[in-house]
Amino acid sequence: MKKLLALLLALVMVFALAACGEPATEETTPAGEETTPAGEETTPAGETTGFIGISMPTQSLERWNRDGNFLKEQFEAAGYQAELVYSDNEVDQQVSDIQNLIAQGVDLLVISAIDGAALNTVMDEAAANDIEVIAYDRLIMNDNVNYYVSFDNYSVGTLQGEFLVEALDLENTTADDPKYIEFTAGDPADNNAPFFFNGAMDVLKPYLESGVLVCRSEQTEFDVVATEQWNTDTALDRAQNILASYYSGGERLDAWLCSNDSTALGVTQAVTSDYAGDNTVIITGQDGDVANLRNIVDGLQAMTVYKAVANEADATLDIAKAILAGEPVDQALIDAAGWDFEANLDTETYTTSDTGHAATSILLVPETVTPDNYEEVLVEPGYYTVDGDGYLVAVG
Ligand code: BGC
Repeated sequence: MKKLLALLLALVMVFALAACGEPATEETTPAGEETTPAGEETTPAGETTGFIGISMPTQSLERWNRDGNFLKEQFEAAGYQAELVYSDNEVDQQVSDIQNLIAQGVDLLVISAIDGAALNTVMDEAAANDIEVIAYDRLIMNDNVNYYVSFDNYSVGTLQGEFLVEALDLENTTADDPKYIEFTAGDPADNNAPFFFNGAMDVLKPYLESGVLVCRSEQTEFDVVATEQWNTDTALDRAQNILASYYSGGERLDAWLCSNDSTALGVTQAVTSDYAGDNTVIITGQDGDVANLRNIVDGLQAMTVYKAVANEADATLDIAKAILAGEPVDQALIDAAGWDFEANLDTETYTTSDTGHAATSILLVPETVTPDNYEEVLVEPGYYTVDGDGYLVAVG
């Protein structure tokens, strides 16, 4: 019996030793590989942590799809977690989408507002949670918003106005044989819209005042020519009404200032189908939307102002990094960023309320695109390619 017990004990010990053998192999694996995730060793400090909430207005206007994708991609490529939401151009929806992002624990918000004046409560909530906000492209009217990344909005309008002065040869036009123009502006809820309109108007006003340029409808005030939500059909309807009321007898119309491409699309449709005159109407735009670039190639729209949203997203990423690292957003940041595009610091223009608080603004530089230069401005830098039919296709 004793022998049997000794044998059983010996067997148990053999099994126990065999079982212990497996963990022993772990000791042969270098300790570092087990405990340190590879990413932390290769990614610079400060880039692996951070959750970014990105709130965009709508997918129904082309550019925001590009902005949203670029922003999410850039943040993720830099090692951040990013959540992107669209709010269907509904203000209440955007408020609750941002509240959700705050509840999910974001460290920073990047917001392009549907209505810049309607986010007060949720901006206060962000501030109460120590979340900084970058107003992206469109300013938010709330003093908790300290940063703004956009293009120089006023100069978008200036470029449109200057283009028309040149294209209509206003310098050599006299009041006894004037040029005729109509106006379509953007969404009154969008802080950018008056900047675009005023930029263009400041260039064109002297010609309107001297009678060299005439607006037959006399609709020249922003509030009258504005287009809710930048909607193409709204712009189309208003343009059809104007054409029916003032141009039905084929009265001459030389130009239509449109603040952006979505409104230019509606105006172009109206002019193509309803304008009784036989001259080409010079139509302006902004953004480089694919449908509008098609119209530019086809000679239906004369120009667009291009704003490279990939660069806007790049700038936003670098500013977000600085904010999250507690570093200043200033000229030194721009100088050190090494961007291959121009951007200017403005700490005065974009006030967020009548307290005078101004968002620290990084403003990129827009460019005029015409049938003569789209190869150079859009295709050569790689923003667009040309398809087999000669039309432009956006990259990314
Ligand atoms: C943007 C424009 C755009 C418009 C409508 C503005 O805030 O700056 O680029 O055309 O919104 O989407």
